Amino acid sequence: MGRQLMATIGVAATPNMFAPVSTPAFAIREVSFLVLAIVTFIFVVVAGLTVYAIIRFRRRPGDDGREPPQVYGSTQIELAWTVVPFLIVIVLFLTTTRYIFAIEGRSATPDALDVTVVGNQWWWEIRYPGLGIVTANELHVPVSDPADPKPTFITLQSADVIHSFWIPQLAGKTDVIPGKTNRTWIEPRTPGTYVGQCAEFCGLQHAGMLLTVTVHPKEEFARWVAAQQAAAIDVPEVRAGRDVFTSVACISCHTVRGTPANGVFGPDLTHVMSRATLGAGVAGNTPENLRAWVNDPASLKPGARMPAMKLSNDQLDKLVAYLVTLR
Ligand code: CUA
Repeated sequence: MGRQLMATIGVAATPNMFAPVSTPAFAIREVSFLVLAIVTFIFVVVAGLTVYAIIRFRRRPGDDGREPPQVYGSTQIELAWTVVPFLIVIVLFLTTTRYIFAIEGRSATPDALDVTVVGNQWWWEIRYPGLGIVTANELHVPVSDPADPKPTFITLQSADVIHSFWIPQLAGKTDVIPGKTNRTWIEPRTPGTYVGQCAEFCGLQHAGMLLTVTVHPKEEFARWVAAQQAAAIDVPEVRAGRDVFTSVACISCHTVRGTPANGVFGPDLTHVMSRATLGAGVAGNTPENLRAWVNDPASLKPGARMPAMKLSNDQLDKLVAYLVTLR
């Protein structure tokens, strides 16, 4: 995804795991710093001794060219270089385990937000079972105030192959595996938009399944929920476009609530224009791009599962005029 598009939708092009805003990501940064400190210390000791040995024992003019005395089998030294690394590994192992259990052991509280994210080639379906909302590629959650925690628990499923769900500033990676349900959770403390990526190679458009997470202040989130729960808008002027939509194959893959369209293979379009990008981040969601997408998705996203709809220009105009009303 281009930097320019990233800037348009207001997210950093390079998510930084050292700039966490959510509880599990804070924990991951803590354990990362501890590991980095230990390995940096080891590096400095080993590199320092190496440099010392290279300088102190270098060849000097007047050396007689014989080998130095050969020392073999010092129990003390061998014990030291066995026991010390063993202890270091134990410390790293126990610390990491403690963090993993602390993160994975958190269970959902009754007032936590419950979201299901389904990985697809190559986009993310996002369902809010408790709220009756279905959307795609742009996860919206409330901010979690430490005084009034509102974590989001995410159920992860795959419709096809293995994907991996990763928003570096919010939580660690969790694989998204066909036939298996995984869980993760986030507890973002700062409103903003955070960018994530599929982190498991899943085919041609592995790099083309962007995920953004927008963290809203509570009232703003409530407004977003209300807008998403609303039925699709019915604008009389674009009924001709809606008729095109419901008379061709669109409806076998897409849902627009309140119309005969109830397909589930592609993204729910009830509020498609509320989303910033098309094709999971391959293009900004503008009427021109939408037209190009419906005409031939592969022109924007080679390999996309949606077929070119082979509509006439007139049908295309009407259809796009209809789609852009779905705010
Ligand atoms: Cu989905 Cu890589």
